[in-house]
Amino acid sequence: MTNKYMYFIANWKMFGGLNSIKSLNNVIRFLKSFKNNKYIKIIYCPPNTLIHTMVIKFKKSKIQVGAQNCHSHENYGAFTGFVNCNMLKSVGAKYVIIGHSENRFAGESDKLINHKIKSALKSGLKVIFCIGETLKQKRKKITKRVLEKQIKLGLNKIKIKDKKNLLIAYEPVWSIGTGLIASNKDLYEIIEFIKKKNKGYKILYGGSVNPKNIDSLKLIKNIDGFLVGGASQNSKKFIDIIKKTYN
Ligand code: PGA
Repeated sequence: MTNKYMYFIANWKMFGGLNSIKSLNNVIRFLKSFKNNKYIKIIYCPPNTLIHTMVIKFKKSKIQVGAQNCHSHENYGAFTGFVNCNMLKSVGAKYVIIGHSENRFAGESDKLINHKIKSALKSGLKVIFCIGETLKQKRKKITKRVLEKQIKLGLNKIKIKDKKNLLIAYEPVWSIGTGLIASNKDLYEIIEFIKKKNKGYKILYGGSVNPKNIDSLKLIKNIDGFLVGGASQNSKKFIDIIKKTYN
């Protein structure tokens, strides 16, 4: 794969402090000099505490910054501990991850996720919308039904014109942080299913992506990019994933 436009999203989760910023110099240097850089879109999603610092760090680079979640309310309000999309945008975020399974587990419903997506798009943020089945659902062979429902409810009343501002990330829950990964054949089939039912969306894959399994994952033709958790916290590993995708 040498000339396909691909997204590489670094989801740092609740990791990283100001002392993690220096390592980003490696990524900035790498992207600047990499032969395929015009096809690469890197988006860092750090904890909110690092968004502004990263935005400044990436000022002269093409790398963009996103948040990992947001509140559904558009304006300021009495919501202790939360930030809304306009606030994220005001510190330079361009994207926001919504519907991550770790937040679905913490109680986020499809309806709330739908509100958050609408609020994000209205504020001008682009959305990385996560979907995925649990191991139990996979064993019951209801993966497609689960994904269809998550998409139907999550994207309820989302305007067609917003399609270009929304990426779908397919992350099997049983793959996240476990080292387990579906076969290429299964991933191809599920991504094809999502694309057929939801024309026009870019579909990313997430779940245990690392410098070892990328050699195989990159062969899946219908994937438009990767959402990387654990491995993205190490700049060398993250760079390796990108490099190998284009090798
Ligand atoms: P992982 O996380 O790469 O550590 O499995 C992916 C994610 O949760 O987005």
